[in-house]
Amino acid sequence: MRVLVTAGPTREPLDPVRFLSNRSSGRMGFAVARALRDRGHEVVLVCGPTALEPPSGVECVRIGTATEMLAACREHWPRCQALFAVAAVADWRPARVGARKLKRGAGGACTLELVPNPDILATLAREKGARLAVGFALESGDGREEARRKLREKNLDFLALNGPEAQEAAVSRLWLLDARGGERELGPAPKEELARGLLEAVLPAGDEACPQKKV
Ligand code: CTP
Repeated sequence: MRVLVTAGPTREPLDPVRFLSNRSSGRMGFAVARALRDRGHEVVLVCGPTALEPPSGVECVRIGTATEMLAACREHWPRCQALFAVAAVADWRPARVGARKLKRGAGGACTLELVPNPDILATLAREKGARLAVGFALESGDGREEARRKLREKNLDFLALNGPEAQEAAVSRLWLLDARGGERELGPAPKEELARGLLEAVLPAGDEACPQKKV
């Protein structure tokens, strides 16, 4: 099947030299894309700025901002049968982007006005029909209740929960929740292995085009 994967951070410019972003390395999303490719799927990887090389054989669409990520995903989603939203999308962007570098002036305080970015996963999953939608969530502390809320409100089949220690780490663990109330832990393991385990859990062997609803 054809699968859409989002990965990496987004960058929200403030002026031509500054931006707001986060610590996402893109490793988990790239590992999911590679694992999907290895299972014989066609993959479109929409990714924010990262130092990683896209896996060969994967169609990679590079974007900067959340708005650009949504536009690229909207273009590809109608031809895909599954979505893995692994990107760490910036939730807000500066209300105004300076055409020229903001000056420090007299050195006083600076207040930024931020406006919300679109929720890419929720937007795409709303119109998913019978297609598979898998989200990720990063919560500090025991975020399982919050993760269940996201799973329900974003209309997902599965949600993989991890903690802040997953950022920039090579080894990580995931708590996988499904829409029927099932839960299971994956890892700790290198992100490549976690990605393979995730696919085994959400795509039944031999029939990868149909989502398996129960973990
Ligand atoms: N996500 C997205 N677009 C956004 C925010 C999040 O597509 N603007 C996706 C992420 O790729 C991830 C899931 O939604 O698959 C959850 O992301 P997370 O940052 O954990 O949650 P938020 O919905 O942003 O909520 P909060 O930051 O308040 O925890």
